[in-house]
Amino acid sequence: MAGLLVDIIPCRDWFILILILTLGNTICHVNGRAFFVFGDSLVDNGNNNYLLTTARADAPPYGIDYPTHHPTGRFSNGLNIPDIISEHMGCEATLPYLSPELSGGNLLVGANFASAGVGILNDTGIQFINIIRIPNQLDNFKEYQQRVRELIGHEESKKLVKQALVLITLGGNDFVNNYYLVPNSTRSQQFTLQEYVRFLITEYKKVLKRLYRLGARRVLVTGTGPLGCVPAELACYSRNGECAEELQLAASLFNPQLVQMIDQLNTKIGHIAFIAANTNQMHMDFISNPHAFGFTTSKIACCGQGPYNGVGFCTTASNLCPNRDEYVFWDPFHPSERANRLIVQQILTGTDTYMHPMNLNTIMALDSRA
Ligand SMILES: *[C@@H]1O[C@H](CO)[C@@H](O)[C@H](O)[C@H]1NC(C)=O
Ligand SMILES: *[C@@H]1O[C@H](CO)[C@@H](O)[C@H](O)[C@H]1NC(C)=O
Repeated sequence: MAGLLVDIIPCRDWFILILILTLGNTICHVNGRAFFVFGDSLVDNGNNNYLLTTARADAPPYGIDYPTHHPTGRFSNGLNIPDIISEHMGCEATLPYLSPELSGGNLLVGANFASAGVGILNDTGIQFINIIRIPNQLDNFKEYQQRVRELIGHEESKKLVKQALVLITLGGNDFVNNYYLVPNSTRSQQFTLQEYVRFLITEYKKVLKRLYRLGARRVLVTGTGPLGCVPAELACYSRNGECAEELQLAASLFNPQLVQMIDQLNTKIGHIAFIAANTNQMHMDFISNPHAFGFTTSKIACCGQGPYNGVGFCTTASNLCPNRDEYVFWDPFHPSERANRLIVQQILTGTDTYMHPMNLNTIMALDSRA
């Protein structure tokens, strides 16, 4: 019997199986597909810990509700969106690309290339000094593939990337930490808001095309949230808790054009490679009716100071709410774990309003049949 088994299972599969069993303490039990993450602080799970930058979340009270109750570099009280997607795929969370633990069998689970502070544009987030801008995140993805090739060979490595799920989250910082960072910013003198949005979409399209050329075939692309409604912006611009108009306008211009661009790319490719997640609408649902989702507030951050706890950073000196689950926002910019869980639920099961052209459960069902 043993002989028969060996005969019908190709050598390379055995090799990989043994690799996973011996090197990988991180096995995906259900789907067995790798997961790659690109983007900004909404999805960074610790790369910036290894960089000389001010954009970091490696000190308490960040991570207060993480399984270890220690900060990890995630901009959340607990898990973030990619962690919860991994959980649903039956996988361990992906490791940050810069983590020394990302080697051997761990590489086969995927990797997180995201870096807090980055945007679509290279000049976004320059005030954070040393961050991994998006062209460099893609360079790292290329380097990652080289490392995987050395481990499992060319064909298997190509297959791993092709079958992987990819998440990319960009755009918010191009407004908050660039165009609107200071009055009369360079970009705002160069472009009207309408022109700037078109420029961002053109540049984003190049990023997505490069991701496709690097082998990505199922890419979740999140739009920006309602930028004008985050506690940091309420603290700056809001008298009665109303969202900041100009930033809301920016999000309302950017998000539909992103969906259009994704449709164009898919049509050109002739296959659904890119899937738009309407995180703006998901967030607006919480903001319109926080109580329906079990939140007590969608305006005040759990951790922070000043109006709406929206001023400055979340540190040990900040106000800290006792029950994070009641807050949409953990800090002045980032959702709580509970809000992230509800967002991922919509990513998995949402209707076309939320997930275009289809939700993640549909994608996973299609791919498991392929
Ligand atoms: C951003 O920087 C990369 C090099 O790191 C360069 O190739 C690219 O052209 C730049 N993008 C823009 C829009 O200037
Ligand atoms: C911004 O530019 C406008 C007109 O170009 C000018 O009136 C205004 O004072 C400038 N504001 C700042 C803060 O520099």
